[in-house]
Amino acid sequence: MAIDLPYRPRRLRTTAAMRRLVAETRVHPGDLVLPMFVKEGLAEPAPIASMPGVVQHTLASVRKAAREAVAAGVGGLMLFAVPEHRDAIGSAGTDRDGILQRTLRAVADEVGDETVIMSDLCLDEFTDHGHCGVLKDDGTVDNDATLERYGDMAIAQAEAGAHLLGPSGMMDGQVGYVRRVLDDAGYQDTGMIAYSAKYASAFYGPFRDAVESQLAGDRKTYQQDYANAVEALREVRLDVEEGADLVMVKPGLPYLDIITRVAAEVDVPVAAYQISGEYSMVEAAAANGWIDRERAILETLTSLRRAGASVILTYWAVDAIRLLG
Ligand code: PBG
Repeated sequence: MAIDLPYRPRRLRTTAAMRRLVAETRVHPGDLVLPMFVKEGLAEPAPIASMPGVVQHTLASVRKAAREAVAAGVGGLMLFAVPEHRDAIGSAGTDRDGILQRTLRAVADEVGDETVIMSDLCLDEFTDHGHCGVLKDDGTVDNDATLERYGDMAIAQAEAGAHLLGPSGMMDGQVGYVRRVLDDAGYQDTGMIAYSAKYASAFYGPFRDAVESQLAGDRKTYQQDYANAVEALREVRLDVEEGADLVMVKPGLPYLDIITRVAAEVDVPVAAYQISGEYSMVEAAAANGWIDRERAILETLTSLRRAGASVILTYWAVDAIRLLG
């Protein structure tokens, strides 16, 4: 016996076709950015134990992977590099022939303007102490001395062919400083995807394996406290005022509220970084048969879009495009 109900929202869920028709959020291949790692001096790509399915590339294999990602339709590539030699100021990050610059040249030569080539602008992969900047005598990170290093890195990366630089060190004034340096050097068209609201997170763990981080301790004096949301809005506002072309929230899934608030506040595209720990949690649970990997990938990506991210950095970029079919 049917009861006389005025509203039946379930009608819009009756078939897959109906659900597809009324879906409010879609993930498009062009929204997805694939982060990739290159290690100097490698003979063969090397698996990263804590990120099953992700490798440290050689210069040859990153070219091939970049070509395949572009053929799949990704919106961009975010490049990281692991140098053979590290020092206190991260010299390899600014050398013209440093591994990240060589990677950028190789990828730019391979795919050019067919996709958006991005590079991580941070010193942590290049310093022997693993911090994102240079240190004072007392061991704390020297904000303004670090900005000068970021300026040199920015020129090296722009010259090597990056379209968008990703300042990710959470130093005060980094976006404005790098913007001025780029403009003064004639790189007006090189943009910035600023890691604006970047939290000190336990979920970066696997990434630190991927780049063989030398960090002892934590980054809590420069990355944000996860207890705070208003502070993220301030960081984002400052970055937009300083010239960020896109702003990023990072990590993704534990910070959906931040993504939504940032998206409501700014008039530039908002990116979310689905980081290493978010990737590895799903992969580990799926490997144990505890969750359905493919459904979890699509659900998390759709959630980030629904929260307000228009661009998503994800290690699943190519797999997800296949799943979106
Ligand atoms: C800094 C940087 C980090 C990540 C991207 N850029 C590490 C950190 O801040 O400790 C993390 C990305 C991830 O976990 O997937 N160079």
